[in-house]
Amino acid sequence: MKAVQVTRYGTPEVLDLVQLPEPAPGPDEVAVDVTHAAVGLIDVLIRRGDFAAHGLPMRPPYTPGIEVAGTVRAVGADVTGLAAGDRVGTLSIATGGGYAEVMIAPAAATFRLPDGLDPAQAVAALPNATTAVLALTRAVTLPPDARVLVLGATGALASVFPAVARRLGAAEVVGTVRSAARIAEAEGLGFDRAALFDSLDGQRFDVVVDPVGGELRGRALGLLADMGRLIAVGGAGGSARSLDTDQLWFGNTGVVGFAVGNFLPRFPALAAPAAAEALAAIGDGSIKLNVETFPLGRAADTHTRMEAGGVSGRLILTPR
Ligand SMILES: NC(=O)c1ccc[n+]([C@@H]2O[C@H](COP(=O)([O-])OP(=O)(O)OC[C@H]3O[C@@H](n4cnc5c(N)ncnc54)[C@H](OP(=O)(O)O)[C@@H]3O)[C@@H](O)[C@H]2O)c1
Repeated sequence: MKAVQVTRYGTPEVLDLVQLPEPAPGPDEVAVDVTHAAVGLIDVLIRRGDFAAHGLPMRPPYTPGIEVAGTVRAVGADVTGLAAGDRVGTLSIATGGGYAEVMIAPAAATFRLPDGLDPAQAVAALPNATTAVLALTRAVTLPPDARVLVLGATGALASVFPAVARRLGAAEVVGTVRSAARIAEAEGLGFDRAALFDSLDGQRFDVVVDPVGGELRGRALGLLADMGRLIAVGGAGGSARSLDTDQLWFGNTGVVGFAVGNFLPRFPALAAPAAAEALAAIGDGSIKLNVETFPLGRAADTHTRMEAGGVSGRLILTPR
């Protein structure tokens, strides 16, 4: 089969299009004929070697790609509820393998797509919307009529939060952008309002969702309401290794981390209800993302685009 392989950490040029043997599913796994594989910033960070010290399963040589949609090709001996020919989407698969004609995924993280659901929209939103459901229900407890702030609002993960937060009872979902030129785009994604971070001085939020990190994380602590919680979910703007815990102490606030790739293997039973909630939000049109598709051989171009920032919507590889 055709697949993209990373044989050493480095620039996008390390993404090679190669021929690999077709993988076979283990007892609890399914083999998926991949029609769509989304490119996430996490794929870029892993490819660069930024997480080399974190013991991730994706180490060279590996095939990137943690979010796919496609058709079940074969199921493992112990798999029930899925069969060859089913149209499916996967959640974020810690072992990767999605930039390929065939991917192996755990059955517990593979979901039948409702009839009529566009697989490009499914792959663009299902893993991130499931992540959003789990983050807002497992990492924090939303108070009634919660005010939620999402940093980096136009990002792939951030952009599914308005629909998910509202389904879970949030009263207001605000997003930040780093250029005023993208305020309208963010509001088009369903945020009640979008703003430059610096213009939020004096406002307070019950939950701040932070996929950006870097120096913004520490500053965002000042926007937490009494008993507010910041969820650290990413580092698009760099890592944030030190925070002022005295500020948390005196402010009755808190920071919690959430990483779906580490969470789902430990709590597989929580995947299905969260994915169902995510699929409902995608199915009713409350999440609709701009998508651009590329053949597998252009994986390096998609990584170059992601690395440069400013992408609107999702970049998706189409292996078939
Ligand atoms: N915790 C989880 O389970 C989970 C799940 C999925 C993703 N993630 C993580 O979430 C992060 C975002 O991933 P993604 O796929 O959503 O990436 P993305 O689509 O590239 O979005 C990144 C967002 O952050 C903004 N941004 C980047 N650098 C910034 C800076 N210095 N200051 C302010 N804003 C900045 C970008 O703005 P521009 O568009 O203007 O560049 C964009 O809105 C990554 O670290 C990824 O690993 C975590």
